Order: sequence, then C-alpha cells, then structure tokens
Amino acid sequence: MPERILVTGGAGYIGSHTIIGLQEAGYDVVVVDNLSNSNPESLKRVEQITGKQVEFHGFDLQDRQQLDALVQANRIDAVIHFAGLKAVGESTAKPLLYYGNNLGSTLSLLETMRKHDVNKLVFSSSATVYGDPRTLPITEDMPRSATNPYGHTKLMIEQMLEDMSKTSDGWNITSLRYFNPIGAHPSGSIGEDPNGIPNNLLPYVCQVATGRRDKLTVFGDDYATPDGTGVRDYIHVMDLAAAHLAALQHLDHPGTYKAYNIGTGAGTSVLELVKAFEEASGVTIPYQIADRRPGDIDSCYADVSLAARELDWKAERSVTDGCADSWRWQSQNPHGYADRT
Ligand code: NAD
Ligand code: UFG
Repeated sequence: MPERILVTGGAGYIGSHTIIGLQEAGYDVVVVDNLSNSNPESLKRVEQITGKQVEFHGFDLQDRQQLDALVQANRIDAVIHFAGLKAVGESTAKPLLYYGNNLGSTLSLLETMRKHDVNKLVFSSSATVYGDPRTLPITEDMPRSATNPYGHTKLMIEQMLEDMSKTSDGWNITSLRYFNPIGAHPSGSIGEDPNGIPNNLLPYVCQVATGRRDKLTVFGDDYATPDGTGVRDYIHVMDLAAAHLAALQHLDHPGTYKAYNIGTGAGTSVLELVKAFEEASGVTIPYQIADRRPGDIDSCYADVSLAARELDWKAERSVTDGCADSWRWQSQNPHGYADRT
C-alpha cells in the first residue's frame, strides 16, 4: 500500500509543487489548507499535471475536531507541515495573528499526531532563524535569533519539535530551513501567487515584466556586497520540493530531530537577479535605487553540505532556470490563479 502523507498548507506555493513530487513518487496525498493565502485552483492544476487526485480538506488546522476526525479516518504515515503565515512586515504589525496562527496550528497538529501515533514530520523552517549571520556561508550549528514575530514563530516551533523528539514517543522530525524560494513548475501552470503587492523580489520583478507594476524599487545599493545590493541564496521551488522527498525518505531514526539548510550555497545580488531575469525573459526591468528596507541584511547564503551528506540532496537548478520558470508561470497567468477563478 502506498504511504499516505498529510500535507498541511498544500494549496500554497511550496506545498503545491511538493505534492507533484510526492504523487510522482507514488505517495498518496491528503491536504489540509484553510485557503487563507492560496487558491484551490492550484490543486486542480496539480491534478492536471500528475493525473492523480488530491484529497483536499478546507479547514483551519486549529480546528482540532476536524483534524482529529481526519487523522482518525486516514492512515497517515507522515506529515509535511507547510501551513503558516509568512509575511515578515505583516507579522510585525500583527504579532498576535502570527503567534496565534503559526504556533496554534502547530500545537493542534502535534497533539493530534501524538494522539494517533503519527510521529514522522517534516517542518518548513526558514533561513530567517539565523537572524543577521556573523559569518558566511551559514552552517546549521550557527547561533539562531529572530528579528520579527514571523522569525520568532519559526524559532519557537523548531524548539518545540526538538523538545518533542527527546520524549519517549519515538518522534522523528526534520526541519528544512529554506533560503529564498523562486521559480515554478516547468509547465508554467502553477507558481507563486502573492496577494496584493509582492514583498519578495522575484514576484515583484515578474509583475513589473507583465506591466502590472511600473518599476522595481531596489532597496539599498550601499550594502557590503560586490555591487552594493543585497545578496541572497535563491533556491528553485522544484529543488525545494525534491528536498522534502529526500527528508521524508530519511525519517527512519525514531527519537531524532535534525535541521538542514536548503539552498544552493551561492549568493546572488538583487542586480544580478534582475539581469538573470532579463536574459531569461527578454524583458527589460526598469528599476530605481531607494533606501534600505528596515530589517534587511547584507548577505545570506547557505552551507549546504549537511543536506548533501545526510539527505543525499542538492540543488540542481540555476537562478536563470528559476527566472525562466517564474516568467513562464507569470506570463501565462498574469493575474495568477485569479485569471481562471
Ligand atoms: P503559502 O502562503 O503559499 O502557503 C502556506 C499555506 O498555508 C497557504 O495555502 C495557507 O492558506 C495555509 N495556511 C496558513 N495558515 C493555516 C492554518 N492555520 N490552517 C490551514 N492552512 C493554513 O507559503 P509558502 O511560500 O508555500 O510557504 C510554506 C511554508 O514555508 C510556510 O510555513 C513558510 O513560512 C515557509 N517558508 C517560506 C519561504 C518563502 O519565501 N516562500 C521561506 C522560508 C520558509
Ligand atoms: N528587494 C528589493 N526590492 C523588492 C523586494 C526585495 O530590492 O521589491 C531586495 C531585498 O532588499 C533583499 C532581496 O531583494 O536584498 C531579497 O528580498 P526578499 O524580500 O525577496 O527576501 P528576504 O531575503 O528579505 O526574505 C525572505 C523571505 C522571508 C524569510 C527570509 C529568510 O521573504 O520570509 O527570506 O529566509 F524569512
């Protein structure tokens, strides 16, 4: 019988791409998503790509009754926990929303898993747990800190998971600390579909390219980086999806908590990303330099050797691939999933 994976937040950007990998690898998938930041159209398109059905349940993970009934009724072998709110700026304005949603949904999930003896979990963490890193590349054992409520929720959840793994319940938990996800499925039929004005660089660039925004604002050109603009480690979402499969396949050590950096190991500046996008799309991106965005750091990129060694995973796609794939998605769906719904 195929293994059955509960995917929380599966209608979202990274979840929908990961479900494709899961279904293609032969797993059964059950999704819980309250659609607070996603559109069910994403899962319809996943079904078109894989030719397999996705079992979808539209409720909030904090609804313990519904979650309990679902886990009771299904034999769940492992959980991938993507669900969460993720906008850094919004988390500073609405900390209770973030603590409530991200911690509340995780507590509800863990309690339900414990009750039904489901103890394998892969959790979506973030490079944000490294705060302002003192040295680069970032290794998993470096000091962790957070500068905003979103980051605090990731740190707190990681702590919760590590503590759980030390109990006698046999938990086997892996946190994947994503660097900066970009790209889309090569079909162009699913991709990142932010609500309102995008916070992240590549979705913003894509909307400039379609004419939805006038120009890109580059936040600062006086950082201590080769061209003065911020440097990040952009990881293709298809590589990220593959990392979840690798993590799942290595959940065979009860009583273990591990965290892995999921990036490429290379840094790319804002202006380099813009150039890569222009080359991949053939569209010129007008931009203006502005002040630094509060809270941004100079540079952030991963040491990815631990994931290569222990998960047998490494990124295979380039930043140019990510730009080409994001552009295919955006140009085919200029208003995201709203074009079809
Ligand atoms: P996303 O917003 O596209 O997906 C998250 C999904 O979770 C959404 O579909 C949303 O509707 C759902 N959700 C939120 N709260 C829920 C709740 N209480 N109950 C049920 N569903 C709920 O985000 P994403 O980019 O796919 O990110 C997935 C995970 O990865 C998040 O935990 C995020 O913090 C983490 N992460 C993302 C990035 C990034 O830049 N995209 C970077 C590092 C980590
Ligand atoms: N940037 C611009 N203009 C924009 C948007 C971004 O110049 O309109 C710059 C930023 O200043 C930064 C780089 O592009 O130098 C990347 O910015 P993003 O907002 O795309 O990504 P961040 O690295 O700031 O943040 C991302 C996620 C966070 C996560 C963090 C670390 O959005 O949730 O990575 O993992 F916490």
